Amino acid sequence: MNGESNPVALVTGASKGIGRALVEHLLGRGYQVVGCSRGDAGWEAEGFLHLQADISDERQVKSLFREIKRRYGRLDAAINNAAVASMNHFLLTPAASIEKMLSANVVGTFLVSREAAKLMRKRQYGRIVNFSSLAVPMRLAGQSAYAASKASVESLSQVMARELAEYGITVNVIGPSPTETDMIQRVPKDKIEQLIDSMVVRRLGTFTDVANVLDFFLRRESEAVTGQVIYLGGIPNG
Ligand SMILES: NC(=O)c1ccc[n+]([C@@H]2O[C@H](COP(=O)([O-])OP(=O)(O)OC[C@H]3O[C@@H](n4cnc5c(N)ncnc54)[C@H](OP(=O)(O)O)[C@@H]3O)[C@@H](O)[C@H]2O)c1
Repeated sequence: MNGESNPVALVTGASKGIGRALVEHLLGRGYQVVGCSRGDAGWEAEGFLHLQADISDERQVKSLFREIKRRYGRLDAAINNAAVASMNHFLLTPAASIEKMLSANVVGTFLVSREAAKLMRKRQYGRIVNFSSLAVPMRLAGQSAYAASKASVESLSQVMARELAEYGITVNVIGPSPTETDMIQRVPKDKIEQLIDSMVVRRLGTFTDVANVLDFFLRRESEAVTGQVIYLGGIPNG
């Protein structure tokens, strides 16, 4: 790792699910971790600071970063894990539903990445890791709005990778396979089984699957790995 003090990572959506698991993973790897969610974290750990922030709100994101700068003065990794999802047939999807997903998933990732990159640029080093979904490469029915938001995250990440390379900042994307969290609670079991049957690795995803790809993207030696999307479950890109 890097420099005198322990490296600092920000994980958005740290209160539960994959975000919480990644915070615990990074603490075990020696990071100081800042997490955010709209509500309380509801859990604590040594080396973990939770701040309430809605990532789709520019003012709140700026104030989150003022606090990170004040407390740590650096940021080594920004993990844009926070997102919202809902399933519906395209013909039945209200505008409010796609607006909510675009706002949290795309605008949120955009704002956090931008503020993170400003801070990382000062030290000519940074790792930004964003989140997509198998809904994009598998064109999953019932997920038009969610898939559109995650396809935007992929595009955004690839252009950011190009623009931020000169500052020593990499930007990559993880596309987890279905993982048991609150996000998929309301998806009917038979839909999940159908999805798993059409994957190459036919099982639910685990937090370890995601943490393993994260570790690869975060390594200092991964400086030539940027603009990449890695899907889990054996699903190819494109
Ligand atoms: N679980 C899966 O099967 C799966 C599959 C593919 C991809 N993914 C992706 O993996 C990531 C994590 O998913 P998950 O299943 O762990 O989700 P989750 O259990 O629903 O947790 C989502 C987290 O994001 C936070 N959040 C939501 N909107 C926010 C906002 N506007 N500002 C700040 N925080 C916000 C939530 O806290 P608050 O509600 O308190 O804000 C919560 O901490 C997401 O990007 C998701 O799209 C998940």
